[in-house]
Amino acid sequence: MSDEKIKNETGVAGTTETEAAKAESKDRETEPIIRIRDLCFEYTDKKSRFGALDHIDLDVEKGEFVCILGASGCGKSTLLNVLAGLYKPGSGKVLVNGKKITGPGPDRAVVFQHYSLFPWLTCKGNVLFGLKSGKGKHKYSGKERKEKAMEYLKNVNLEQAADKYPDQLSGGMKQRVAVARALALESDILLMDEPFGAIDPRLRLELQELISALSVEKQKTVIFVTHDIDEAILLADRIVVMEPAKIRSVEEISFPHPRKRADLIRNGEYEKLRLKLTSAFYDQLQDSIGGEVVL
Ligand SMILES: Nc1ncnc2c1ncn2[C@@H]1O[C@H](COP(=O)(O)OP(=O)(O)OP(=O)(O)O)[C@@H](O)[C@H]1O
Ligand SMILES: [Mg+2]
Repeated sequence: MSDEKIKNETGVAGTTETEAAKAESKDRETEPIIRIRDLCFEYTDKKSRFGALDHIDLDVEKGEFVCILGASGCGKSTLLNVLAGLYKPGSGKVLVNGKKITGPGPDRAVVFQHYSLFPWLTCKGNVLFGLKSGKGKHKYSGKERKEKAMEYLKNVNLEQAADKYPDQLSGGMKQRVAVARALALESDILLMDEPFGAIDPRLRLELQELISALSVEKQKTVIFVTHDIDEAILLADRIVVMEPAKIRSVEEISFPHPRKRADLIRNGEYEKLRLKLTSAFYDQLQDSIGGEVVL
């Protein structure tokens, strides 16, 4: 859809009020849940400017699982922080449900790259925080919220750790609580920044399969940042490969959900896809460091 269409959909010039309302409601049905157009973002200080995102265009459909794959420093976290409403776009448009993002909101839950639990709250307290500040705020009574918090902790196999504080947990456990807290917000959109980066491979696979199953069951739209190709193939409907500040390519992944790694590796298409993505990933590394990457 062109920028012109976006203008018309917001009810500007040339339409009566009723036509504009009709167009807007029709638009809501067809509009992607996330629309990014010509997004640029610069980090600036008194002495310097650094362009971290350069003319990014991306649409994400409701219920889609999109992985953002790219080497360190290419702008993945910056893009996610713009979507979270924590960074203001320098130029361009970022729309969620057709509306311009003006800051963080209950429609978007975030799991950050580094643990971000409240150290003064127990696991259950951290998850309850999500329920008190997200959609559950008006939906559930106090008793229901406590039951829901336990249900979300159970989703990530942590109900036994409900009364522990974050500093009594391993890295993997902390990250599972962060996932439970994000789910407890009951937001339509889940933004996850390398959430399993610091987790050992066995638990990581468990969590990947868990998030894949939960995203289908709870009908979430997920933007998941990673630099792990296998993780991206396991989870994504689409993989967006980034190079510094730009989108290099977009790959559709059509394996049915929920996926199991053991099933995927037996599928001939998996290896082909892996090779294609590995080559896109390392080509961009090679371009950015100006030399050959030895695998
Ligand atoms: N606060 C900041 N001030 C200036 N430059 C920054 C700042 N934060 C990030 N950058 C730069 O912006 C670029 C993109 O950073 P970003 O954190 O988005 O990368 P990333 O793809 O998430 O990397 P990683 O995989 O290591 O987390 C990098 O070159 C980084 O050095
Ligand atoms: Mg990052």
